[in-house]
Amino acid sequence: MQRVHRCLLNHGGFAFVLLLFWTPATEQLRWLSLARVGSLASMDSPSDACDNSTGLVGRQVKLCKRNLDVMDSVRRGAAVAIEECQYQFRSRLWNCSNVDAVRLSGTRESAFVHAISAAGVAHAVTRSCSMGELNKCGCDANVKGTTPEGYHWSGCSDNIAFGSAFSKNFVDSRERTKKRSVKSSRGLVNLHNNQAGRKAIEYNMEVACKCHGVSGSCEIKTCWRAMPSFRQVGAVLKEKFDGATEVAIRKRATRRRLEPVNPRFKFHADTDLVYLDPSPDFCRSDLAGIGPAGRQCNRTSRSTDGCEIMCCGRGFRTQRTQRRERCKCKFHWCCEVRCQECVKFEEISTCQ
Ligand SMILES: *[C@@H]1O[C@H](CO)[C@@H](O)[C@H](O)[C@H]1NC(C)=O
Ligand SMILES: *[C@@H]1O[C@H](CO)[C@@H](O)[C@H](O)[C@H]1NC(C)=O
Ligand SMILES: *[C@@H]1O[C@H](CO)[C@@H](O)[C@H](O)[C@H]1NC(C)=O
Repeated sequence: MQRVHRCLLNHGGFAFVLLLFWTPATEQLRWLSLARVGSLASMDSPSDACDNSTGLVGRQVKLCKRNLDVMDSVRRGAAVAIEECQYQFRSRLWNCSNVDAVRLSGTRESAFVHAISAAGVAHAVTRSCSMGELNKCGCDANVKGTTPEGYHWSGCSDNIAFGSAFSKNFVDSRERTKKRSVKSSRGLVNLHNNQAGRKAIEYNMEVACKCHGVSGSCEIKTCWRAMPSFRQVGAVLKEKFDGATEVAIRKRATRRRLEPVNPRFKFHADTDLVYLDPSPDFCRSDLAGIGPAGRQCNRTSRSTDGCEIMCCGRGFRTQRTQRRERCKCKFHWCCEVRCQECVKFEEISTCQ
């Protein structure tokens, strides 16, 4: 209730509308609600929009005002991140429908959300740089000379350095403005996972080439450095989620750092996701919007999408449906395609 009052005081009715859609947020992820705001650039007074936007903290508001053109990319980055999170978790009980619930703070799920959203901003800002939409950046001018295979770099290389730097500045600022929280284990974990998200792009940059020349010959080859698709970034991070390391903060000389709880496990790399707390049991969870009822599941799978796990052992219903469709189509000279009609049986299982 405290948060409701504060938001109402700060942001008026606008925040109230958002509260209807969002469960109580962890502070660090509140900026993600930008994903639901319309284009800032199209607002009457975009600078006000920075003040009024939900979930931005002091430094983020300043960055917003100083980089209004970049903010639309940030907004797109947030939206794409949530979309990708929901895609990667589509066959699990927690399906990323409430990314910022307090109960998730410090868990593997939260680690994934931090990483994918930091990556989303870096990816979207970088893309806008390449498209020439922003004043402050363009293609990466540092990629020049000759490729290892002997082709000349030309074409527009994605300026991931700029996108990552902006993401770091904007997304990490919540942890950086509060000096004390940087030293807290939660703050360190969030910063690590944000960085791991950006690394998932940086370490997977690709070389793209295009041939030019008479009738498909490759006399001139144009190459540039390109970001992986965001789907690929999501897949990389999902793998990191599956192999995430449980850590605790330890004091070493004057520094505090995150170390694996189990000393026999290998030390996490800067690309790995780390977490502090076990995930809640989503079957018993009181998180809004999480519950198996109505979810589709796979009757024969033993994995997270299987009815046993997905439905929390509460049972499921299987419906067999028939569908008629064209099949065994043959081409007859000339010029007709003749098909038969087949009946296809389909099973759809749904949790109770
Ligand atoms: C922002 O909020 C102020 C005061 O709450 C209001 O006067 C102004 O119209 C709002 N601007 C936008 C763009 O919503
Ligand atoms: C996520 O799961 C909830 C119930 O657990 C369901 O209502 C919602 O439609 C699902 N969302 C997506 C994007 O699959
Ligand atoms: C269900 O799970 C089985 C076994 O894992 C798999 O072979 C099958 O393709 C799955 N079906 C669907 C519709 O995903």
